[in-house]
Amino acid sequence: MEDLRNKYIEAIAAAADEPALEELRVQAVGKKGEVSLKMRELGKMTPEERQVAGPALNALKDEINSALAAKKAALADAALDARLKTEWLDVTLPGRNRRQGTIHPVSQVMDEVTAIFADMGFAVAEGPQIETDWYNFDALNIPGHHPARAEMDTFYTHRAEGDNRPPHVLRTHTSPVQIRTMEKTGAPIRIICPGRVYRADYDQTHTPMFHQVEGLALGKDISMANLKWVLEEFFSAFFGTHVETRFRASHFPFTEPSAEVDIQCSWEGGTVKVGEGDDWLEVLGSGMVHPKVLEAGGIDPNEYQGFAFGMGIDRIAMLKYGIPDLRAFFDSDLRWLRHYGFAPLDQPTLHGGLSR
Ligand code: PHE
Repeated sequence: MEDLRNKYIEAIAAAADEPALEELRVQAVGKKGEVSLKMRELGKMTPEERQVAGPALNALKDEINSALAAKKAALADAALDARLKTEWLDVTLPGRNRRQGTIHPVSQVMDEVTAIFADMGFAVAEGPQIETDWYNFDALNIPGHHPARAEMDTFYTHRAEGDNRPPHVLRTHTSPVQIRTMEKTGAPIRIICPGRVYRADYDQTHTPMFHQVEGLALGKDISMANLKWVLEEFFSAFFGTHVETRFRASHFPFTEPSAEVDIQCSWEGGTVKVGEGDDWLEVLGSGMVHPKVLEAGGIDPNEYQGFAFGMGIDRIAMLKYGIPDLRAFFDSDLRWLRHYGFAPLDQPTLHGGLSR
């Protein structure tokens, strides 16, 4: 019995893994194991012999079982230790930075403008950035000799030698979308058209590409008074405070009468604040759509009339969000974009709030 004990206790201590341990268990204390077979022999013994051998065999069986259990636990511990060593993770390392892009202030302001006008029943219309002379000028009552063509510093596309058709232009304003919409839907019309426009100009307040939003409302009895209300309503919603407007008589070939519109501001402390003070900032051109323009768009000026306006988006973005230099808008400088950009999932709405 002592031999049996030594054999198994040593073998268990030396077992390399769980399957080896299981094999030893079967060999020693399994149904047909060596210890079990020994126990079966008890029946053939004399009572005296049995009294000594029985408890001894039981004790041996217990000892082997607990050696098996202890070794099993030790193997499991060792396996866990090994795993912990290979799967080691330094939780003090800084996380991987996933930088999120931001919404450009121009896009943000376009969304804000769209939300405000949508609430007043204006749909969004669009037109091409490469336009014909007709849509950009003639249809808007700007004839070939008109100084406005020269004033606008137009970019012309290149034509092949001998091709005498008039060149296309990069649209100098969003007003051509007025004509395109008139042609497409007829009157009545209530639209805005935000988009890119181009003029050959570059200094602190001018970039060769910039953004405008056009407005057009045509109906049977739409007047300058409606224009004034709509614009005042817009500026107050946009700047989040009541904003006084000033209409100055002006001239555009495509509106009659025409007005340039200023908004109230103060320059106190060196920064501009809209909606207070008694200075004025020019932000848009507007007027009653010229009968010739309605005609060019296929609308009967005896039946319909209405107002149009064109506003600089970059300008009002600078005013609202305190951005000093227009040129930086289009430099694609990541530091600028991160500083002035907006959270991508934070869409401006009238119910969620327009100002960020
Ligand atoms: N198109 C004009 C501009 O770019 C603005 C304007 C639009 C004026 C509509 C009157 C009516 O300056």
